[in-house]
Amino acid sequence: MCLYQAFKGAANEFLLANSVLKQKKQTEGNDMAAIKIDGKATAKQIREELKLRVQALRDKGIEPCLAVMLVGEDPASQIYVRNKRRACEDVGIRPVQVFLPADATQQQVVDEVRKLNQDESIHGILVQLPLPRHIDAVQVLDEISPEKDADGFHVINAGKLFSGRPSTLPCTPAGCIELLKRYNVPMSGKNAVVLGRSNIVGKPMAMLLMNENATVTVCHSKTADISAFTRQADIVVSAIGRAGFLTGDMLKPGCAVIDVGINRLEDGRVVGDAEYASCESVAGWITPVPGGVGPMTIAILMRNAVLAAERT
Ligand code: GUN
Repeated sequence: MCLYQAFKGAANEFLLANSVLKQKKQTEGNDMAAIKIDGKATAKQIREELKLRVQALRDKGIEPCLAVMLVGEDPASQIYVRNKRRACEDVGIRPVQVFLPADATQQQVVDEVRKLNQDESIHGILVQLPLPRHIDAVQVLDEISPEKDADGFHVINAGKLFSGRPSTLPCTPAGCIELLKRYNVPMSGKNAVVLGRSNIVGKPMAMLLMNENATVTVCHSKTADISAFTRQADIVVSAIGRAGFLTGDMLKPGCAVIDVGINRLEDGRVVGDAEYASCESVAGWITPVPGGVGPMTIAILMRNAVLAAERT
């Protein structure tokens, strides 16, 4: 057994023991702080696993390649794109970056996507969102070849997920499922509540939880009494983008809180949708922000790119 396997085995045993403790918390009351789900460490572990798969591809003469397109100069998007390039370099994926000016036309953006589709050395394509207002994002996303769609946003991949067929999964919801699995949070037969119904997170998240045999409720801005649902939930995934919306009194003791929110406060701090201190004292598991779901999104993007290269 190599050192890595031994470490992984010990870590899994620890997590399994904690999983049993958390179930005890659910049945006997709240006597311990929540387990912090470490997305940063889990993402690093996934990237280490991917390095082996990238090496296997390179040994076969295949160099995995991910193209990222950015239209305009949105500062947050520039940071995301830079982080994606760095992750590619870390894992051994060749990054290709395509930068178009903010005033690029619909036709120019579509033409660039078509060029990437035709380039056989490129396995994955991502168009960074949001696109400038004058660009029809849906048309651009649907222009990406479904086989190269690293984000899993193409309508073909969304339809395959909906109908239970293998597909490229959207990175953030797939990252949430990976965290739940790696921390041995039970999903089968459990009540899951998803806050938010976006195409990028809420809807695919609900599908993936259903695939894990959870009973899923999706709440959104028009839901009358959200806490009536969250109090029944064994798993709460929040993707509504409102700082501190989810509070401890809205939770069932021992539940898992997966916080997808990334909200920047006026003082510059970045916080999630969950009010961490009050949720941590009630929940059994909780993801921090930053350092929870965020790093997982990029790790799963890398996995999608490697999977696309493996399919060739
Ligand atoms: N903008 C913010 N998050 C994402 C993402 O996951 N994918 C893309 N393409 N754009 C984003």
